[in-house]
Amino acid sequence: MEVQVLGPVEVRDDEKPVALGPPKQRAILAALALSPRTVVPIDRLVDLVWGDAMPAAVVPSVQSYVSRLRQALDPLRPDRVSRPVLVTRTGGYLLDLADDELDARRFEAEVTALHDVVRSLPESGPPPLTAEELAAAEARLVGALGRWRGMPYADLGDSTTASAERGRLADLRDLALEDQVALWLALGDHRRAALQLSSLTTTHPLRERLWGLRAIALTRDGRQADALDVLAVLRRTLREELGIEPSPELQRLQAAVLRQEEWLKWTPLRQAVAAVATGTPAPTTAAPGIWPAFERERHAADLDAALALAATGQTTFAAVTGEAGIGRTRVLTELAVRAEAAGFRVGWGRCSQDEDAPPLHPWQRLLADLGLPDDPEPTKADPFDRWGHLVDVVLDAAAEQPLLLVLDDLHWADGPTLRVLRLLAEAPDPRPLLVVTSWRSPHARPTNALGDLAANLGRRHALRIELEGLSADGTRALCAAVAGRPVTSAEGRAVHARTHGVPYLVVAYAREAARTGASFTDVVASVPTPVAELVRRRLALLPPETWDVLAVAAALGEADLARVADVVGSGPDVVLDRLEPARAAGIVQEMEFDRVTFTSAIVRDMLRQQVPASRAAWRHGRPRLAVAHA
Ligand SMILES: Nc1ncnc2c1ncn2[C@@H]1O[C@H](COP(=O)(O)OP(=O)(O)O)[C@@H](O)[C@H]1O
Ligand SMILES: [Mg+2]
Repeated sequence: MEVQVLGPVEVRDDEKPVALGPPKQRAILAALALSPRTVVPIDRLVDLVWGDAMPAAVVPSVQSYVSRLRQALDPLRPDRVSRPVLVTRTGGYLLDLADDELDARRFEAEVTALHDVVRSLPESGPPPLTAEELAAAEARLVGALGRWRGMPYADLGDSTTASAERGRLADLRDLALEDQVALWLALGDHRRAALQLSSLTTTHPLRERLWGLRAIALTRDGRQADALDVLAVLRRTLREELGIEPSPELQRLQAAVLRQEEWLKWTPLRQAVAAVATGTPAPTTAAPGIWPAFERERHAADLDAALALAATGQTTFAAVTGEAGIGRTRVLTELAVRAEAAGFRVGWGRCSQDEDAPPLHPWQRLLADLGLPDDPEPTKADPFDRWGHLVDVVLDAAAEQPLLLVLDDLHWADGPTLRVLRLLAEAPDPRPLLVVTSWRSPHARPTNALGDLAANLGRRHALRIELEGLSADGTRALCAAVAGRPVTSAEGRAVHARTHGVPYLVVAYAREAARTGASFTDVVASVPTPVAELVRRRLALLPPETWDVLAVAAALGEADLARVADVVGSGPDVVLDRLEPARAAGIVQEMEFDRVTFTSAIVRDMLRQQVPASRAAWRHGRPRLAVAHA
């Protein structure tokens, strides 16, 4: 027999429902179930069931309801004589239910037991349980949550006792939902976790753990920008509702998401299972923290000087440029951490490649980070008013506390975003304000607006940092730090030759080496998928006629210009013109001795793989790579 109170009261005997009579009679059962094995005095019972609407002669009704309940329930117990379900005691009644005969108690026991399991899961790294064990725990939680049929103790009114118990059960249910999400995360079901967390954070906007898990789920689902958005929303909510800052854990999490720290990554369970099976400790790739930034000390010092200048009240600008993956965001992130330690408030806006991003989105993000109000009337007819308003908001805030504003990836900025930045650069009154921007350079197709801005910053004597690839030594050190094993100088040179020290590429190869255990020399012989994607994105920016020439040059292999011109069927001057965007984008090098040299062997190999062998095939259309991104 089981009494069920997680919804309108029900009794089931071997799954069969037991008839419980009219509403008040059922309510009396629910009221007794609120505190099983405890005497409930008649006046309390009346209070719980009738509240203020108590009829005149209520006690006889209670007695008759109880007696009919007894007739329904006692037969359900084999030893009914020695141990009846409903017992009369002086002044009241008692429902003699074992813990496993009341669904609320079973729910509670199950949820707390499973919570101990979930609590044992490490924040990062392989869980101590196998995939099967995790799935079994999740199934049990599904079963426990399935016991809910509606509002608990639905037959009772809003008395304090009933409400308190409902609240307690609701908390347990939230705990179960949260634990379920943690299990999904451990199982690698990041998307499902993110969806569930989006609804949980809406219901519980002040529960930081939920927001943290949501940011982790989004990051693991490859949505780093959304993860940062979510943390910005939390920061704003906490500020507005409670006037407090997010906990240090969440602040660390935000930095970790920005830096894409290793421990955020999901550890595939295959590994975990193997580790459990063989009893060997799992690899320690999941240690918190990230590898250090190599060979950026000088730039860091320059930026610190800019920060110090801003701290004296001088509005200061800086721009960090370099090709994709060179480490712009990393430099900015490290700066943001130092700035916060120096008492600056940091606002971060990133421009998005996403065509759907609304205009001024980076500024909105940045203001949200700072907890500043956005435009009160976004529908203002004159855009100038809106832009000026944004500038004013920032300047006012800087007057209160030193500010660091970061605008990352400006090569994707919308026009209004750049306009606001220019207005800010033209603002006459100095403020303790450091504005650091970043964009890709050499930019394949510089927009006029970005060019104008760069010139404008130049006039303001903005600090300009052009990031270069790491040296062969730096490349070797980064490989060793990421892969967690010694790297020979020959291996370091091989990776450097392949990547030109672009950290993103170096990291991709080092991860591949760590994953496969292969030597770096073998690993660089192939193109890891993320690298291929990066190269494809860069190539996709080039005009089609450049493509054709590049394809030929790659097929011929570092050919001299005359041969390329010959195959393409035009003069060397035309070939040079067409290669110019590729040179500006850093794909081919300055053409010396009339040779076409690729800056990266990866690009050359990729082009080769994609270009059909016969000239006729490529001549009549863009090479396939380009088509794939058209
Ligand atoms: N100097 C460096 N030393 C070590 N790792 C670096 C360095 N610069 C960047 N990285 C790493 O390389 C990857 C790409 O860097 P990122 O800052 O995202 O490049 P960008 O913003 O220029 O595209 C990140 O994983 C980052 O942590
Ligand atoms: Mg970046």
